[in-house]
Amino acid sequence: MGTFAKIFAASVCVAFLAVKWTRPSFDAESLRGARVVVTGASTGIGEQMAYHYARFGAQVVITARREKVLQEVAQKCLSLGAQKALYIAADMASESDPDKVVDFALEKLGGLDYLILNHIGPSPFTLWTGDVEHIKWLMKVNFFSYVQMAWKAMASLEQSKGSLVVVSSLLGKMPSPFVAPYTSTKFALNGFFGTLQHELAMKKSNVSISICTLGLIDTESAMEKVRGVTDIPAYPATDAALNIIITGATREPELFYPWFTHTLNLIKDWFPPITNYIIQNSYNYIP
Ligand SMILES: NC(=O)c1ccc[n+]([C@@H]2O[C@H](COP(=O)([O-])OP(=O)(O)OC[C@H]3O[C@@H](n4cnc5c(N)ncnc54)[C@H](OP(=O)(O)O)[C@@H]3O)[C@@H](O)[C@H]2O)c1
Ligand SMILES: *[C@@H]1O[C@H](CO)[C@@H](O)[C@H](O)[C@H]1NC(C)=O
Repeated sequence: MGTFAKIFAASVCVAFLAVKWTRPSFDAESLRGARVVVTGASTGIGEQMAYHYARFGAQVVITARREKVLQEVAQKCLSLGAQKALYIAADMASESDPDKVVDFALEKLGGLDYLILNHIGPSPFTLWTGDVEHIKWLMKVNFFSYVQMAWKAMASLEQSKGSLVVVSSLLGKMPSPFVAPYTSTKFALNGFFGTLQHELAMKKSNVSISICTLGLIDTESAMEKVRGVTDIPAYPATDAALNIIITGATREPELFYPWFTHTLNLIKDWFPPITNYIIQNSYNYIP
């Protein structure tokens, strides 16, 4: 091995160990009685987060559009050990519902420790064919409602030294075919909440923001789209959910799950032609 290679390998090891050792340790007890809002909790990763918080003995408010399903999830949360499990049906495309959900939680829980922004509106997995109205609508659901809820909850999170968690995607850092509307909303989230992270740090705010970058997760809505279309590995929703919760509880600014999304994000700009070749050839597409 040449000197450069040795130095390079050594620095990678040191960096790896530094990250391992400095990762703050998670205290499950810290979530007992914690006042939590989880959005998009009727199914998928949000539903799994609600169950984990319930097992940790938190007080949860869950939301999504389908009231009947929320009722069942809340029931299960109580049986798993949640101190409280309340639900409120809301449509995040509406002007007023995002505020309504935060107000409901503040009133019922008397404050807020965690705001977990996770919902997404359904969006097709196809070539972009010019549906501008769909992008406008999806921006409301996936982006504007996040901004609105974060702002509405900020004063309460300041008081409680609370945490804001934004569930984003590798597609918020790396464009990919067939998901133009979705990837646009995730880039918007990363831009907005990345700025807010800087500003809160500069203001020495009490509030932490965690931005979670996920790869493919095996939720029904995601698998339905990519089945037969790609061989990209899908990771379990319940494990993704737990990792998001730990990231919020330990106030880390970022999560990459699964781990290789971090590597991909780091190296994607080194050789763009290679990255583009790999991306464009990881889908079965015949023009
Ligand atoms: N699954 C993946 O492969 C993957 C990869 C990267 C990132 N992520 C991110 O992880 C998060 C969760 O993804 P997921 O796969 O668990 O999603 P999902 O299973 O499709 O669940 C979406 C949730 O949002 C709710 N929702 C949809 N439209 C809504 C609206 N207009 N107003 C309010 N709530 C609405 C849905 O409930 P209702 O239908 O009852 O409203 C549901 O609870 C998202 O932020 C997603 O971008 C997922
Ligand atoms: C930060 O938290 C402390 C209580 O621990 C509180 O006195 C202070 O007002 C909070 N800061 C802001 C900006 O609300």
